Amino acid sequence: MSEARKILVTSALPYANGSIHLGHMLEYIQTDIWVRFQKMRGNQAVYVCADDAHGSAIMLRAEREGITSEQLIDGVRAEHMADFADFMVDFDNYHSTHSDENRELSSAIYLKLREAGHIATRPVTQYFDPEKQMFLADRFIKGTCPKCGTADQYGDNCEACGATYSPTELKDPKSAISGATPVLKESLHYFFKLPDFQEMLQQWTRSGTLQDSVANKLAEWLDAGLQEWDISRDAPYFGFEIPDAPGKYFYVWLDAPIGYMASFKNLCARRPELDFDAYWQQGSDAELYHFIGKDIVNFHALFWPAMLEGAGYRKPTALNVHGYLTVNGQKMSKSRGTFVKARTYLDHLDPEYLRYYYAAKLGRGVDDLDLNLEDFVQKVNSDLVGKVVNIASRCAGFIHKGNNGLLVDANPAPELVEAFRSAAPSIAAAYEARDFGRAMREIMALADQANAWIADKAPWSLNKQEGKQDEVQAICALGVNLFRQLVIFLKPVLPKLAQAAEAFLNVAPLKWADHEQLLANHQLNPFNPLMTRIEPAKIEAMIEASKEDLAAANQPKGNGELTKDPLAAEINFDAFAAVDLRIALIEKCEFVEGADKLLRLSLDIGDEKRNVFSGIKSAYPDPSKLEGRLTLYVANLAPRKMKFGVSEGMVLAAGPGGEEIYLLSPDSGAKPGQRVK
Ligand code: MSP
Ligand code: ZN
Repeated sequence: MSEARKILVTSALPYANGSIHLGHMLEYIQTDIWVRFQKMRGNQAVYVCADDAHGSAIMLRAEREGITSEQLIDGVRAEHMADFADFMVDFDNYHSTHSDENRELSSAIYLKLREAGHIATRPVTQYFDPEKQMFLADRFIKGTCPKCGTADQYGDNCEACGATYSPTELKDPKSAISGATPVLKESLHYFFKLPDFQEMLQQWTRSGTLQDSVANKLAEWLDAGLQEWDISRDAPYFGFEIPDAPGKYFYVWLDAPIGYMASFKNLCARRPELDFDAYWQQGSDAELYHFIGKDIVNFHALFWPAMLEGAGYRKPTALNVHGYLTVNGQKMSKSRGTFVKARTYLDHLDPEYLRYYYAAKLGRGVDDLDLNLEDFVQKVNSDLVGKVVNIASRCAGFIHKGNNGLLVDANPAPELVEAFRSAAPSIAAAYEARDFGRAMREIMALADQANAWIADKAPWSLNKQEGKQDEVQAICALGVNLFRQLVIFLKPVLPKLAQAAEAFLNVAPLKWADHEQLLANHQLNPFNPLMTRIEPAKIEAMIEASKEDLAAANQPKGNGELTKDPLAAEINFDAFAAVDLRIALIEKCEFVEGADKLLRLSLDIGDEKRNVFSGIKSAYPDPSKLEGRLTLYVANLAPRKMKFGVSEGMVLAAGPGGEEIYLLSPDSGAKPGQRVK
């Protein structure tokens, strides 16, 4: 093999204010597979990541929860790290952007940019929340759309008519944080002069660093001309203060990518063979790859290389951009239960199922990837369990029973062995090019050939005949060897299966080059089942649990141990405004057969009828008495599938329970469908 390459790889740094979900996992699994492949090949690959810990969203959430920002990000980082570890995403280092290394690097890079004349300052007038005493980012301002008049729209675009505008154009603007009417206020801002790098970027984005479709998008932006980038935010802000600018903080997206460097630097302190400068200085012979989603291309293909160039560092070798995850052909949806958190998945299913499915569907492009849950079950069961694991389980028993687990020296199908050997370079090339889908197809085609050959030789029939024991042992020895080859090829995707296979094969951790030899005269260990089929019921349970996640997430401060006092929780105006509360007329109310606590209510909510199950039977022994009554109803609660049917939304009642449950009613005169304001 040629000399080992030095390769530094990153995935985007997840925000420290939310849980990892299966959309994120697409990126981390993709990157992890690529890095594991590089390591198996003997390259010096290093995979670093971190939590992206800064910004006003994190500060505000911590405030809501009654904890410090530091406490919040520490808790979330621990949660993220556990999720990644359980999905076998094997970072060499997982750091935080709120770290000493990152503070030092961010300041140093900023100062170099300033010295080189790439920083400008000028006053900016912006909405300011007089109650909260802070400037408001666009998404923290709500008001009436200036184009179509729809109320409750965010500060930069209207969800109803699609118009984009500046927050000052909104009619009747309100702070989404305090509800106060914002005032205009001026403040000095710091800008990074991106246009200074127009020419460099024009060249860099067309030098094979980007996939074609990404390069084309970039060309559009570059042709339109670049703007100076506002890199400062006023206090209060959770982040790093800008040198020589008291009360001004780096915008989160300035120090976030520097977090890649900071995480690597933190690792270098523990790993003497890694030299920070050798990876980051201009002209470095190390390769640098960022895996990112298509939504954050501008930050990585414009601002980031310009910052690196301006501060005298090397630029990325390439950006590896992927598309978005959809589930069953649609955007992940909380109400459908397809917005699945990493932890919820892990509570129900084996992470290697998902690793394989993503691998099978990932290509080099930026197309969205669909997790079709039926196809997922079918593909994993047929490929991994039916084809790969099956080879070992068919052969191992005969070797253990017939030859005490000793695998003989035999090659009864040289052409098949040759087919496996000669497929290796092409599979490796597919991995290298991130064309994992092609790699998986080629590997499964080999598995098909192996299975067909074994079926044809039928060792189970030979085993019943006199004097065929040598032949049985030869067939099964080759079967196990072919299984071993497949495990080598699949190891970047299925590290846990590979580990279990290594234990059965009684071999040291497999490397890519190990596919060149076969095992012979080799003692095997007992065979244990390596992987079981996906049961569709587990998928349903995961979807159900994801609907429950949502119910929990919608409770004020429903965040486990991060919460101090749930009753004292404050929700922001946004969270309150998101509840669609209406007057409902109870048209029908009846017992539910087989349910101790539930009543079924048929509601008229103005333009629609809704069916709700409510646990209020103990207080209303005669349900017909509720008929004709008005009550309050939450119309946009995600539907819940229950044993007796689907419950759509929820009626509101007070009281401790039992007979003491009091259904709420409006004053007389209210009409079904009226919204509660
Ligand atoms: N914090 C920034 C990244 C800073 S990098 C210096 C961020 N965080 S994120 O948590 O929103 O997203 C992290 C990564 O996950 C991004 O690359 C993003 O594209 C990816 N994904 C988030 N949701 C996704 C899907 N639904 N599908 C595929 N990838 C997704 O952006
Ligand atoms: Zn509008």
